Amino acid sequence: MDKRILVLGASGQIGTELTQKLRELYGNSNVVASDIKLGTFEMMDAGPFEIIDATDKETILSVIKKYQINQVYLLAAMLSATAEKFPQKAWNLNMNSLLAVLELAKEKHIQQVYWPSSIAVFGPTTPKNNTPQKTIMEPTTVYGISKLAGEFWCNYYHEKFGVDVRSLRYPGIISWKTKPGGGTTDYAVDVYFKAVEEKIFTCFLSENTRLPMMYMEDAVNATIQLMEANPATIKIRTSYNLAAIDFTPKEIAAEIRKQIPDFTIDYAPDSRQQIADSWPSSIDDSEARNDWNWKHEFDLKRMTLEMLNNLEKK
Ligand code: SER
Repeated sequence: MDKRILVLGASGQIGTELTQKLRELYGNSNVVASDIKLGTFEMMDAGPFEIIDATDKETILSVIKKYQINQVYLLAAMLSATAEKFPQKAWNLNMNSLLAVLELAKEKHIQQVYWPSSIAVFGPTTPKNNTPQKTIMEPTTVYGISKLAGEFWCNYYHEKFGVDVRSLRYPGIISWKTKPGGGTTDYAVDVYFKAVEEKIFTCFLSENTRLPMMYMEDAVNATIQLMEANPATIKIRTSYNLAAIDFTPKEIAAEIRKQIPDFTIDYAPDSRQQIADSWPSSIDDSEARNDWNWKHEFDLKRMTLEMLNNLEKK
């Protein structure tokens, strides 16, 4: 069956690059980008674009019908730090969008759904190093609670109604095209922008806060690989642990200094420190590696070169 894809939240950090890649792979006209507000000129020029509030099931359905969509990537969400400021709004957006799309799949308007989860499903009582797929999960953030609940909704719709929904627990994602907004791992993007622009960065996490991270190209590839995988190989229908690298602010700064020797960093931890402290330092993703052959390509060094080169050109 030909893929006819709708991306909800296409203007966000992951949406921007995932939409581009999906269009390269499946053809511009087969990938409808959508967001709650207008997209960039490039995105709206390259292929179809629709304004959609991801919690509005009827509008999503009308776009599905208009373009004969069979796959939905639901990327609209409120991230961890912003969600702490607007808990009710975060819960409504993160949950109602997922339930709308799962219902549309249950009603057979679409055949496949992708929905991202996060390392935020873990909490302070989770083993911190090499966190396993199945372990204690007691999230203490609104974002984490919404992601954990969402994972079990995905599993429920799969078990009960046969919905083909697939999901990954992303670590912090690092990219240069579109900045993330309102997350706790955002420092690892900001640090590169500031290094290039001003050669100085004040980090909102303390120097030894280790978090799991990944370069965008790896995240996009993992997502498409999971969606392309034979359903028989997908053994986890909550969400797969996914990992590539982990580092501290001090370590990323040292790596940047190899390219920009006069770069300096200082530290002013704020409320996001507490969120970071509740998350794992590193993730065991062996199930993704075994079940559908996941492999990452970017280590800290290669990612740093890519980030700095691209930002300098920009
Ligand atoms: N990057 C996200 C955040 O920091 C975690 O999934 O909120």
